[in-house]
Amino acid sequence: MTLNNQDFYNVVGKRRSVRDFQEKPVEWEKLRRILTAGLKAPSHNHMREWHFIFLRDPAKMRAVIELSDAFSRAPDRKFLDETLKKITDPYQREVYAYSIPLQERMILTAPELLIVCFRMVKPLSVCKTLFNLNNFASAWLVVENILLAMTAEGLYGVTMVPFKTTELKRLLDIPDEYEIATFIPMGYPKKEPTPRQIKVNLDERIHIDKW
Ligand SMILES: Cc1cc2nc3c(=O)[nH]c(=O)nc-3n(C[C@H](O)[C@H](O)[C@H](O)COP(=O)(O)O)c2cc1C
Repeated sequence: MTLNNQDFYNVVGKRRSVRDFQEKPVEWEKLRRILTAGLKAPSHNHMREWHFIFLRDPAKMRAVIELSDAFSRAPDRKFLDETLKKITDPYQREVYAYSIPLQERMILTAPELLIVCFRMVKPLSVCKTLFNLNNFASAWLVVENILLAMTAEGLYGVTMVPFKTTELKRLLDIPDEYEIATFIPMGYPKKEPTPRQIKVNLDERIHIDKW
């Protein structure tokens, strides 16, 4: 495989959050390659203390939904409308209007539901500075590697942050010193992901020497 820099930028440019999947199963070899890419991420303490769970038990998927926030549990029309009414930015409102109704279904129907776990050296309750969250930061680099590798493999998904973490850890037998960074429902997209993202003017975001 020849590598040129454009391949990388193409993958970055194609990555999108996708919430609607074909039923087609994902090849195990692809999943292994994706996780191998995840394990290449920078690791704050050099130890790569990351584990991956594929959740395939429908009863446990159901339990994950029960332990999710209100948006992820198939909200009724009234709740959805009230939520959307509070969002002032039209682009943001549009994304929520589209994505909130898909939350429960994507957890239940994605061909794979990947859970990325990381070792939390200190319990969250004693973390006082962002520096204490180095392991959390490293875990999200793993997540981005995974998302980009998925894109390179023609796979898409979306990251979801756990809600009731203590109960989820118990459900999944996750050791005390490990935490869940994210759930990633993933699979082959039902339709070509739309290249839509809020526009950002890079020049307005670059600062030299001071903000
Ligand atoms: C930390 C984090 C949490 C997210 N949580 C959810 C979620 O619970 N449900 C969801 O549908 N999308 C979730 N997303 C995906 C965002 O909605 C998505 O990244 C955003 O709309 C931008 O779209 P793009 O990923 O296609 O560029 C999350 C993304 C991040 C980074």
